[in-house]
Amino acid sequence: MIPCMFVLAEVSAQTPWTLESWQTRPALQQPTYENPAELRAVVEQLAALPPLLTSYEVIQLREQLAEVEAGRRFILQGGDCAESFADCQGALIASKLKILLQMSLVLVQGSKRPVTRIARIAGQYAKPRSEDMETRNGVTLPSYRGDLINRPAFTPEDRRPDPTLLLRAYERAGLTLNFLRSLAKGGFADLHHPEYWDLSFARHSPMEAEFHHMASGIGEAVRFMENILGIRASEIERVDLFTSHEGLHLWYEQAQTRRVPRREGWFNLSTHLPWIGFRTAQVDGAHVEFFRGIENPVGVKVGASASEEMLLALIDKLNPQGRPGKLVFIHRLGNRKIAEHLPRLIRTVRNAGKRVIWVCDPMHGNTFMTPDGIKTRDFGEILSELEQAFDIHAAEGSYLGGVHIELTGENVTECVGGARGLTASDLHRAYRSEVDPRLNYEQALEMAMLLARKMARAG
Ligand code: PEP
Ligand code: CO
Repeated sequence: MIPCMFVLAEVSAQTPWTLESWQTRPALQQPTYENPAELRAVVEQLAALPPLLTSYEVIQLREQLAEVEAGRRFILQGGDCAESFADCQGALIASKLKILLQMSLVLVQGSKRPVTRIARIAGQYAKPRSEDMETRNGVTLPSYRGDLINRPAFTPEDRRPDPTLLLRAYERAGLTLNFLRSLAKGGFADLHHPEYWDLSFARHSPMEAEFHHMASGIGEAVRFMENILGIRASEIERVDLFTSHEGLHLWYEQAQTRRVPRREGWFNLSTHLPWIGFRTAQVDGAHVEFFRGIENPVGVKVGASASEEMLLALIDKLNPQGRPGKLVFIHRLGNRKIAEHLPRLIRTVRNAGKRVIWVCDPMHGNTFMTPDGIKTRDFGEILSELEQAFDIHAAEGSYLGGVHIELTGENVTECVGGARGLTASDLHRAYRSEVDPRLNYEQALEMAMLLARKMARAG
């Protein structure tokens, strides 16, 4: 069986890629639209609208990721499990940017490296689901697949896949990105004053003094740059921020993948870093086929059931020329399984003489249900997976190039644990996610601080 998979992979790598070649492959997790003509009309409209970003930015990210691959830079990737259209609001966008920027400064300090910030934002609107249909009180309707596809309310009208939502998603993505770009240009001056950060959670932690010490250390470093090195605040206030989302809905991705003047190849201009979800990472499936043809760096989620053969076949397909900064493996193994699986994954890639960027997603292998049936994750288990990831990469002589976290800048109660010790009974209070539970503002900042501490100790 295994050799057969290799043969297939080799043959398919040689077949020419086109913008539509994915359509000849099995495409999992796609909605079924009632009227294909309506979908085609929407895809045509979308393809004619201006791109959300430029090829220059995509190349800039690839260059930064090449530095990550070489062990000289670190990635912070984070944001919602699923963005919703309703959350396309100024304050919510600003608070997401704020927590990501704060975490990134903490990680710069801990890792002693520049940090590339990649938000799960401006396009994270489609979700894979384990069941196509959902039944409630004897009524069966299509599952909610994200605002790109249908709506969460349990009515036939809301759950009907609606192609015009692709246009609404593109518009929301454009609005979000427009505001992010303005903020990142200079609207975040207080970022450089960690004395303004909300560290009230630290009071509940035995590491309170250390957390305050870290924040004031960052403030001192910023003042040193400004006052001693003479780097003007306006320069450091400009922050790079890249976007990412799961490249799940292939019509949406196709419509925004373009050629650009004076550059070779095809660029997906809806997001800087699309990633292939674990459920759609079949080597001969439509998603891998689509994403092998673009110039962007590409991520792939890798779970505990990934075989060595699968990993190597993915590398052959998605980065056959071994271009630096091109392929990111985001492992999401779970805190109980990482010790068993990560060493074999690292060795498989290294023994084949290949290179990838390794990022740890400590969220998706650690989801569980409370006795009341609420989906949650435990801060301690998330931290444990991350810490193990650092230790295992170090023991294997490999480099953990980044972390991938589901978080929000709001004070939600979706994950248990953290300094305030949220428990299952707190989850009812402010559980807002339609899909996976996110770290809230405090939990996310605390996680970054604990991680920075771990990295600083590792040297
Ligand atoms: C996600 O990142 O929200 C997700 C669905 O992840 P995975 O593909 O790893 O399950
Ligand atoms: Co998720």
